Amino acid sequence: MSKIGIALLGCGTVGGGTAKILTQDIESICKRSGLDLELSYVVDVNFSHAESIGIPSNLFETDYQKVLKDPLVKIVVELVGGTTIAKSFVEQALKSGKHVVTANKALLAIYGKELFALARANDVTIGFEASCAGGIPIIKALTEGLIANRIDALFGIVNGTCNFILSEMTQKGQSYEEALKEAQELGLAEADPTLDVSGMDSAHKIAIMGALSFAGSVELDQIPVEGIDNLDLLDLKVGTELGYIMKLIAVAQRMENGISFRVRPAFIGKNHPLAWIKGPFNAVSVYGSSVGHTLYYGRGAGASPTASAVASDIVSVASGVSDIVFNQYNFWPDLTDKAVQLPNSEIKSRYYLRFNIADKVGAVAQITTILGNNGISISSALQKELTETSKQEYAVPLVMTTHLAKEEDVTKAIALINASDVTLANTICISIVDEHPETIS
Ligand code: HSE
Repeated sequence: MSKIGIALLGCGTVGGGTAKILTQDIESICKRSGLDLELSYVVDVNFSHAESIGIPSNLFETDYQKVLKDPLVKIVVELVGGTTIAKSFVEQALKSGKHVVTANKALLAIYGKELFALARANDVTIGFEASCAGGIPIIKALTEGLIANRIDALFGIVNGTCNFILSEMTQKGQSYEEALKEAQELGLAEADPTLDVSGMDSAHKIAIMGALSFAGSVELDQIPVEGIDNLDLLDLKVGTELGYIMKLIAVAQRMENGISFRVRPAFIGKNHPLAWIKGPFNAVSVYGSSVGHTLYYGRGAGASPTASAVASDIVSVASGVSDIVFNQYNFWPDLTDKAVQLPNSEIKSRYYLRFNIADKVGAVAQITTILGNNGISISSALQKELTETSKQEYAVPLVMTTHLAKEEDVTKAIALINASDVTLANTICISIVDEHPETIS
């Protein structure tokens, strides 16, 4: 059996974790897979992290062109991140006839279609298990395990940073800023957490998983995305009183006229299958036509969990499993039509609404009239007397939850309420996500 050389691009957190697995555990991986794998190069411009974790210095290489010319190297593992240099590195590898393994969700969510086509044109494959939900083998589940199913919906908690922050806010009553600071101190959030807290990282992941699940290419910029950075602790507290937990949920859901993709903070009931996912953990709920509900849970970030997924891709690519799946199956974004992506106005949900109204006669009547005129039915209402302290911060908060309503109607009603003379600050609207119905009895 011929030796399969691996070149690792980027030796940061995940790169370091992968280099460790490919040096320390290579014997057992080869024994288990029956492959002769070898880490041939670690390519970077700075090797201080690689040195600090004991990666042998004879593997260090700064000249990527030399690596591309080495016929022993069959697989290039891109762990540089971002969409500029990483894209060029991946394109060069594919054009040089090397298979690519990557954890880069942004790259695939934006350029996946063209990169898959480029791989196909050069008779190589791209492995990307590590791009979604870290160590959870969700890509294999969607592309192989659930192949017999029409996928009806995916609901994911796919950003550990956000889930940690929301868990801390809910459990410890911390403000968003306090919880973010704690996440950064624990190394669970980047120094610049924008991609995570804005919801974009989750959007990248649901775009990738959704394209495979629904066999259609996905336009990332058509996914409505809301992050957690504008949340008010008050709503998490009131939500808890009402029996709900706040989560950043990435959704891809089959509807009558197309697929609804969205990323947003939402309330879920305490008994919802995703309610117990706490701290930095990830989970993806997938509903298939034959299998019903399946749930995938694990660590969605970090050096060794993500490296576990990278190593799994290396084995799949080296053994030819990836090659078969990539060339035989027809659900890849470069082979399918565009998915019909529905705007949020089309979805129906229950909603949590917090009105900030003047404490005067007829204010509540005015609100309920506007809701009623727009066909929105109220399922609960809560108004508390304010303490002196909270009075300084808020107008009277009136919280209502609705029965199932069309988002378009809710948006229209909120605009009218916000423009009315009883509203002192804009209305907060958070959707309540119920468990997806099981089709299997
Ligand atoms: N930063 C991500 C998270 C992991 O916090 O889950 C990589 O996408």
